[in-house]
Amino acid sequence: MKPLYKGKHFITLEEWSKSEIDVLLATSKQLKADFLNNKDTSYLQNKVAFLMFFEQSTRTRNSMEAGIAQLGGTGIFLDTSKMQISHGESAKDTAKILSSYGHGIACRNCFWGVGNKYLREMADNSSVPIMNLQCDLYHPMQGLADLMTIQEVFPKTDNLKVSIIWAYATTHKKPISVPLTQILLFPRYGMDVTLAYPEGYDLPEWAIEKAKKNASESGGSFRITHDMESAYKDADVVIPKNWGSWVTNQSTEVVDDLLESYKSWKCTEAMISLASPNVKYMHALPADRGNEVEDSVIDGVHSIVYQEAENRLHTAKAVMALTMGDK
Ligand code: CP
Repeated sequence: MKPLYKGKHFITLEEWSKSEIDVLLATSKQLKADFLNNKDTSYLQNKVAFLMFFEQSTRTRNSMEAGIAQLGGTGIFLDTSKMQISHGESAKDTAKILSSYGHGIACRNCFWGVGNKYLREMADNSSVPIMNLQCDLYHPMQGLADLMTIQEVFPKTDNLKVSIIWAYATTHKKPISVPLTQILLFPRYGMDVTLAYPEGYDLPEWAIEKAKKNASESGGSFRITHDMESAYKDADVVIPKNWGSWVTNQSTEVVDDLLESYKSWKCTEAMISLASPNVKYMHALPADRGNEVEDSVIDGVHSIVYQEAENRLHTAKAVMALTMGDK
């Protein structure tokens, strides 16, 4: 496999053209077939990726670790609380040092107002690609896997009705990076995207304006509603998921009066019955079962969450193979 994008940072999909994303998707599809057929895919022999995590992870960490192993390389997991970062070492120095030891640096840093800037500072000082494993604003690995999954189920995405819907959860104050990535990416593939949320859970105005621009350039559409039921109505894909009120309230408190006033924003069978008969239910996971979604929906016939999660492996491998490889 040719490393077509050797050295290119993967911080947001906005910095990747549609044709480049199409190559990432085609490569993911090929790597998925190769994995299922037990084919040799050792495109990253002797290559090392550092995997830095400021937060917990199940899918992202393990798809990256398994992925680089399957590509013939080595992933080194770094808990940042055990690094000199915890004593104040800068992103610049960390990036300069790690990039002199390996071939890629991947990082999750979701601290509000910090995460994306941290990744940018690493990118400015790294001689190897920086891969965003989720920051305060973007989760491009998730967005790519979501798009791959939608394309597997719906080969034609033009005017597909996709609703990204806020949902009630109490587990932690989640970043806005998943819905923000989706509203920017899906309109580029001609989808009719609805963003639904209760007052107080806004996404940044610049992201809304960019989503509208992406839609107008691609034949898709983008609208906002505060009416949950209208977002479910006739939808082909629903993505009900919690995100925090970071834009309007930077407190790290998880449960507050605003959140508690929106307990009814749950994905129920009644909501699913408003959608297209063939609707697909998606969620980046982890889901707050019982709060965000009823078990009968996430475990039911409309759910494609495990296919979506599995595709995290194949898309992660495509990003690494195309940006880190050299043969
Ligand atoms: N969807 C996702 O990023 O999952 P993890 O937080 O488990 O990595």
